[in-house]
Amino acid sequence: MKSSDFVSLLADPHSRRSCFCSLLPATSLLCLVFFVGSAFIAPDYKEKFSIWGMTDTLQNLKFNKCKDQCRPNGSEALPEGIVAKTSNLDMRPLWGFPKKNESSMVNLFAVAVGIKQKDLVNIMVRKFLSSNFVIMLFHYDGKVDEWKSFEWCDHVLHVSAVNQTKWWFAKRFLHPDIVAEYGYIFLWDEDLGVESFHPQRYVSIVQREGLEISQPALDPVKSSELHHQITARGRKIVHRRIYKHGESRKGCDGSSTAPPCTGWIEMMAPVFSRAAWRCVWYMIQNDLIHAWGLDMQLGYCAQGDRTKNVGVVDAEYIIHHGRPTLGGGEGNETRSLAEDRNTGRKSIMSTEKISAPSHSHSHPKDHRVDVRRQSYIELDIFKKRWNKAVQEDECWVDPYLLPADQ
Ligand SMILES: *[C@@H]1O[C@H](CO)[C@@H](O)[C@H](O)[C@H]1NC(C)=O
Ligand SMILES: *[C@@H]1O[C@H](CO)[C@@H](O)[C@H](O)[C@H]1NC(C)=O
Ligand SMILES: *[C@@H]1O[C@H](CO)[C@@H](O)[C@H](O)[C@H]1NC(C)=O
Ligand SMILES: *[C@@H]1O[C@H](CO)[C@@H](O)[C@H](O)[C@H]1NC(C)=O
Repeated sequence: MKSSDFVSLLADPHSRRSCFCSLLPATSLLCLVFFVGSAFIAPDYKEKFSIWGMTDTLQNLKFNKCKDQCRPNGSEALPEGIVAKTSNLDMRPLWGFPKKNESSMVNLFAVAVGIKQKDLVNIMVRKFLSSNFVIMLFHYDGKVDEWKSFEWCDHVLHVSAVNQTKWWFAKRFLHPDIVAEYGYIFLWDEDLGVESFHPQRYVSIVQREGLEISQPALDPVKSSELHHQITARGRKIVHRRIYKHGESRKGCDGSSTAPPCTGWIEMMAPVFSRAAWRCVWYMIQNDLIHAWGLDMQLGYCAQGDRTKNVGVVDAEYIIHHGRPTLGGGEGNETRSLAEDRNTGRKSIMSTEKISAPSHSHSHPKDHRVDVRRQSYIELDIFKKRWNKAVQEDECWVDPYLLPADQ
């Protein structure tokens, strides 16, 4: 990444502020256009105003009071109090009002599912329902009715789109304004065991520890796959970094400041705070449905120092069963082949396990290789897009730019 351009920006904090402030005049200008428009283009309107005794002075007063208001684009024609900026996924009764206390904090559990994993999903859904989560299932295999046998089926939301990935669904159905009421957003894969995981306790821990982006640790013994050392369960309540020997800058120690040593989680079972999700949603590219490379940049959404606000929870941990899921045949490592790549840096764990897909000869429709190829293509596009964005945005300053990189 070319960084020399930013040195001067870093040295001059005003350059950033001036860009930000230019938004304000733009907003006032919009208000101005609106009022000038009502005065000159719509004389009928003006007459009505005079009938009601609205004098120009009053309008001027209003104008002065209004010019600093920021309205959602398109809502300017409405009185502000009626503008409903956000929504949620709660179901409401056809008559009467919900019994639940709407002001209590609720969290969201969203998971991409196929009917073949119904045993694991059933256990997850029960756990999260009993912790008062709102639950959303993204069906990628088009099979929705098959879930009817579970008594919880009608109490969760179902979204179905064949062969779409978790990130495809998330970008389209979890817009931050839609999920604005949820304290934490869990966006998980389906092949996870939650025997040693309690959702509400997990939320208490990340709240207490100030983790804006987190994941439960993986049980290193029971998990069939473990691609990254940082995700392995440790003995503490949470951990935020790993220690590993390596030549010069390749190792991880207490002074490391960047992924994959610290400030990093895997994309298998991420948990985002409301604020972090608002940022991450913008980073998810509409067309890059495998979201490779996103993990390395998540730290930018950590609402502060990624070495503090990103972490792995050891006390509440999960098992990664590594079952074949979307895009795979009968093989083993379909899903998580997506997890070993990041922005150009090699994973610190051995990746041999996934670099050679073991063919399941019995299954002719195994698309794992195609999925992986596509994922690499997407990673390349994402990296280029990121670098281009960095170069073109004169206001953006990289908070993680190391002096050594300059
Ligand atoms: C508001 O939305 C319109 C299109 O609906 C767009 O042309 C315009 O640029 C937007 N304005 C702002 C300030 O985002
Ligand atoms: C609902 O929440 C509000 C505010 O937190 C509280 O004042 C009220 O007592 C709660 N009602 C019930 C039924 O729990
Ligand atoms: C979904 O993907 C499978 C292969 O994994 C393919 O056989 C099927 O035709 C696809 N369905 C649609 C609707 O694209
Ligand atoms: C997946 O791999 C494990 C060993 O790594 C093996 O025990 C298991 O049978 C495999 N599952 C499938 C579906 O191939």
